Amino acid sequence: KRIVVLISGSGSNLQALLDQAAAAQLGGEIVAVVSNKAEAYGLERAREAGTATAVLPNRDYADRDSFDAALMALIDDYRPDLVVLAGFMRILTPGFVRHYQGRMLNIHPSLLPKYQGLHTHRRAIEAGDEEHGCSVHFVTEELDGGPVVLQARVPIFEGDDEATVAARVLVQEHAIYPLVVRWFCDGRLAMRDGSAWLDGAEL
Ligand code: GRF
Repeated sequence: KRIVVLISGSGSNLQALLDQAAAAQLGGEIVAVVSNKAEAYGLERAREAGTATAVLPNRDYADRDSFDAALMALIDDYRPDLVVLAGFMRILTPGFVRHYQGRMLNIHPSLLPKYQGLHTHRRAIEAGDEEHGCSVHFVTEELDGGPVVLQARVPIFEGDDEATVAARVLVQEHAIYPLVVRWFCDGRLAMRDGSAWLDGAEL
């Protein structure tokens, strides 16, 4: 399977995917890494792994529709079976999301449906939650609202701050994202009727 990964920043999730691909454990090939930020460190990681990179600065586009149209054209040049959002910090237009419906995944640093949107770690701490985590989900037109495939939980301890919680969650992100990508590549995972299905059972 051909995979295109979209990033905006550090790319630690990308690294986890690259590592699994290098170990022939991903079930597919990362054919390109696309960033909307030229300075994203994840681009270095991709180059280091010998993976093609492309930068499409959203600042170069007048509006969301023209950026998403250019992004779609760029991605489709790589003929992906799967598009993986890994810290891609852009809200995508409905047309873009529909185009990749059922073949685009995202990872979100909360136990969805809790804490959609930004600053999830801070919000979980401020709410006094004792449990937090991350979710891999199919992308639909509802922001952070698509069907969840897999979650991992972590505790929040007294004295934790955003950084300690984020680090604890990231370890789990790196564990679950490659696993879900592998399920998809192996043909075990699909989205049907707005739900995620694994091995023929609705999740
Ligand atoms: C992760 O916390 C991910 O859940 C969120 O953005 C962050 C990306 O981190 N969507 P990285 O770029 O993969 O290190």
